[in-house]
Amino acid sequence: MSRLKTKVGNIEFINPFILASAPPARNAEMIARAFELGWAGAVTKTICLNYKDMIDVSPRLAGIKGGLLNIELISSVSPEKWVEDIKFLKQNYPSNIVIASISAEASNIEGWQKLAVMTQTAGADMLELNFSCPHGLPEMGMGNTCSDNPEIAAKITKFVKAVSKIPVWTKLSPNVNSIKRLAELCLNSGADGITAINTVKGFAGVDVKTGLPKLNINGYSAYGGLSGDIIKPIALKAVSEIASTLKCNVSATGGIKNHEDAVEFILLGASTVQLCAEVMFKGYEIIKELKHGLNNYLEEYNFNSVNEIRGKSLQYIKPHFDLDKSNCLKHEINPEICINCGKCYKACRDAGYQAISYNGDNLLIDKQKCSGCGLCSIICPANAIVINNNENICSQFLLKR
Ligand SMILES: Cc1cc2nc3c(=O)[nH]c(=O)nc-3n(C[C@H](O)[C@H](O)[C@H](O)COP(=O)(O)O)c2cc1C
Repeated sequence: MSRLKTKVGNIEFINPFILASAPPARNAEMIARAFELGWAGAVTKTICLNYKDMIDVSPRLAGIKGGLLNIELISSVSPEKWVEDIKFLKQNYPSNIVIASISAEASNIEGWQKLAVMTQTAGADMLELNFSCPHGLPEMGMGNTCSDNPEIAAKITKFVKAVSKIPVWTKLSPNVNSIKRLAELCLNSGADGITAINTVKGFAGVDVKTGLPKLNINGYSAYGGLSGDIIKPIALKAVSEIASTLKCNVSATGGIKNHEDAVEFILLGASTVQLCAEVMFKGYEIIKELKHGLNNYLEEYNFNSVNEIRGKSLQYIKPHFDLDKSNCLKHEINPEICINCGKCYKACRDAGYQAISYNGDNLLIDKQKCSGCGLCSIICPANAIVINNNENICSQFLLKR
């Protein structure tokens, strides 16, 4: 398992897997149990000075297809108690990395500095500035307010850096015009790395029988933050864009549930990965699959360390304008596998190029009419439609050390 060791700046992680700032990192007792099972680090639930204002509603979590929507606030535990918790964790788990997530009002620079000094004096290895909680906090001038105002985010970063002896990361929101620009301003102000992304703004839905919100708090609800599988493509885009253009360390969070998701994020430039929703669903034990899966992957492809695969896939992302338009890949239906359901025919007829004919027994693709859009292969329930040539292309690019 030594190949899982990951160095980020001067900080050594025993593996790249970290608990994100969220319910699984609510206090020292919980984080300690996660460390015992093999998690390399944990970002504390976000610590603030106005913790008494963090009064949560019930319920505050809604299950949605592919994830979770939450309207939970940040930590309602006092910074003084967190100081004790961080001390306990560092005394008992010196090889594990404790990252203090902190937040204050965007205008309260002294508050940010106070929390930074308190948590670093307690022994935190790193700081993560929460610029990104999308619900509840913006109404208090906190969280997403900072991502919404990049100049303010940059100013807070600069002043926190001025009092910090440990690395300072900023956790950014996807709910902005340009996360890359936001990251750039934070880095220019001294941030040592970027955590991307926090939850994506959303609404849990409406019960059509009553007209009431699905996440129903005495008849009312509020907009919240989406997490889990459903936000992974948004996170992949943010992480790769920041890593490739700004050449900085990125901690990825958003929709990571197994080692393959983690590998994808690392190939796209992440140095570490943070998990929340999957731990909430399955418990800390998922670390076993994450560690073994990543280790086996590196072994199979003959890599000695996580760093060797970091960012390897960034070279394959180009502006749309530069993509090859000369090669129109035609689709083929494999008659051995096709179940003649006709789904591809309908899709191509009503949303494609009318290239598939169906006589009730056989489906046929007219290669003159097919424009290679890919819709039929996506909706085929039997995986009977392949994009001609695709395998040949991919075989040239198998990951090599
Ligand atoms: C219930 C809940 C509470 C959260 N609380 C915080 C928080 O206090 N601070 C923070 O920075 N992010 C918070 N998050 C966001 C997570 O840290 C994480 O960035 C996000 O859920 C995306 O990761 P995932 O898809 O693995 O869940 C919270 C998420 C959830 C679901």
